[in-house]
This record gives sequence, C-alpha cells and structure tokens, in this order.
Amino acid sequence: MKKIALLTSGGDSPGMNAAIRSIVKTCLHYNIVPFGIYDGYQGMIDGRGKQLGYTDIDNIIQYGGTILGTARCKDFMTPEGRQKAYQFLNENQVDGLIVIGGDGTFTGANILSKENNIPIIGLPGTIDNDIYGTDYTIGFDTALNTVIEAVDKIRDTASSHHRVFFIEVMGRDAGFIALHSAIASGADSVLIPEEITDIPQLVEEIKSHNKGRRSTIIMVAEGDDEGHAIDILTKVKPHLPEYDLRHSVLGHIQRGGNPSALDRKIATRMGNYAVELLMENKTGLTVGVRGEDLVTCPIAEAIKEHSELDLNYLKLLDVLRTK
Ligand code: F6P
Repeated sequence: MKKIALLTSGGDSPGMNAAIRSIVKTCLHYNIVPFGIYDGYQGMIDGRGKQLGYTDIDNIIQYGGTILGTARCKDFMTPEGRQKAYQFLNENQVDGLIVIGGDGTFTGANILSKENNIPIIGLPGTIDNDIYGTDYTIGFDTALNTVIEAVDKIRDTASSHHRVFFIEVMGRDAGFIALHSAIASGADSVLIPEEITDIPQLVEEIKSHNKGRRSTIIMVAEGDDEGHAIDILTKVKPHLPEYDLRHSVLGHIQRGGNPSALDRKIATRMGNYAVELLMENKTGLTVGVRGEDLVTCPIAEAIKEHSELDLNYLKLLDVLRTK
C-alpha cells in the first residue's frame, strides 16, 4: 500500500475533518502517500485531487464540515461516470480508497470495488446514525447536542407562553435524532418514520401532557409518515382549538458546528483503523464501533441491512411521561 486516496461524500457531518486528519496522519506515520479527492465522487470523476501533507490537516480536528468538500453525485451512478472516476485513481497510482459517508456513499463504493477490484474501506459519516454495523456514526452525537441545545431554548418560550411546540429534526428515513433527542431533552412525545403516527392518539397525548404544565414539546422526524412538523400541527389544530400551537424546523444547523468529544474520538479511531485494514489487504468493509470496540462489517451487508432503532427508548419515553 503506497498511496491511499480518501474522500467525503453525501451530507457533511461534524467529525469528518477529524477522520480526514487521522487517515492522513496514519498514512504519513507508515510512509504511505495520502491523496485527498475533492467533493466526493464528483471530484473523482472530474479529476480533482491532490497529495495531502501535514499542513493540510493541521488544526482541523475542531471544525465541522469537511475540508475536502462533499457532494451527492448522480454521475457516479452511471457506468461511464464510474469508469472516468476509476481512470483518475489509476492515473494517480492509487492502491486503496477510504470513503467517508452514508448509505449512498457505501453503495457507490461497493459497485466501484466490484467493477474495478480496488481495495475500499468505508467510514460511517452521517448525522442520521442510520448505518448498519455501528452503534454510532460520525456526527450523530454532535447533531444530538445541537438539537438538545435548541430544544432547551425553545422550551423557554414554550413555558413562558404556555405553548405546544412541534420541533422538526433531520431524519429523512430514520428517527434516531428525533428519538434520542426526545429522551435527552425531556420531550413529551416523538414522531418517527419507524412507527405509524396516530393523530387522534397524539391529540390525547398532548391534552394529557399539557394538563397542569406550562409547555409541551413534540419531536418530529422530518420523514414521519404524517408529514413535516407543520403538517402535524395543521392536523391536530382543529382538535385542540384552545391550545397555542407552534412549530420550529431546526434544519441544517444540525449538520454543522464543532464536533463533540465523542465524534472526534470515534472519527480519529476509525480513520486510523481504516488505514491499518488496507495495509492488511482487507477490502470491502465498513468500520463501526460497538461499545468501546472497533468492528468491521462487509460493505454489501451494511447497505442491505437496516440499522434498527432501539424501540425500548419509546417505552422509556412512555415511563417518563408519568406525572
Ligand atoms: O445528512 C443526512 C440528512 O441530514 C438527512 O437527514 C436529510 O434529509 C438530508 O441530509 C438533507 O440533505 P440536503 O442538505 O441534501 O438537503
């Protein structure tokens, strides 16, 4: 392994820079040339990349986003696009590739490695935490912290005005952020894509939470089957005429910001491990963390299987509603 290329792809997540830094430093430690590719697979197709050195990654561990840039690349879904991308790797004599991203990133990596026999390791980088084979994805913990800080602030207004707030968080296909932030912020209910939302039941829940209290907080995952926070509010409103209802969409603030200690730590460990796996001629794997241990999972399995939300958290939320 003389040269390892790396890229970040899909939605950015806090901790991606910590992973890049760790990959580059591990490469330099073992006399491997690290080669950064800009803007994910798009940069690979367009031929945009360069050899990275210590100065490129100095002082980046604390920053959100990704110094390499990222993109959601449609061209990579075509054989022609992948051919161009592989040609770029070939021209630059790349021996192995590390991709940091989510499901889409891994799907692309899986096809590329099958078509071209290039060793690839994937690191889970997404705030959504919806990657099979790991307890945590890089960025999830920071996003959670951002969400609970916002909920704490919204609660000040909710309590001051006796309001019911529907707070929408990211999670197009998964409710990890909504459910975990509901527990961590003391929210009263949560609506997630994994569970069918029952509007009449929600109305009853709101009435019961609100009795004798100054605020009610409902966390809504953006991918809920009954729609966005504004849609849910609109649906319950006719049944709660005497309530002061509001909604708030947290949006992309959840993706940015300085990574938490947990995200910096797992990103650093995973980046280091990815290089070592390539050095051992391992390929077609994603890296994950289970408890304190680093683990691997075949990329094909990580794409096929779904990361299951622990529904015990819903039971816990039920218990916590006790007054
Ligand atoms: O990073 C994942 C995610 O945050 C999803 O939860 C969300 O639906 C999506 O990205 C939004 O991405 P974009 O920035 O492309 O709108």
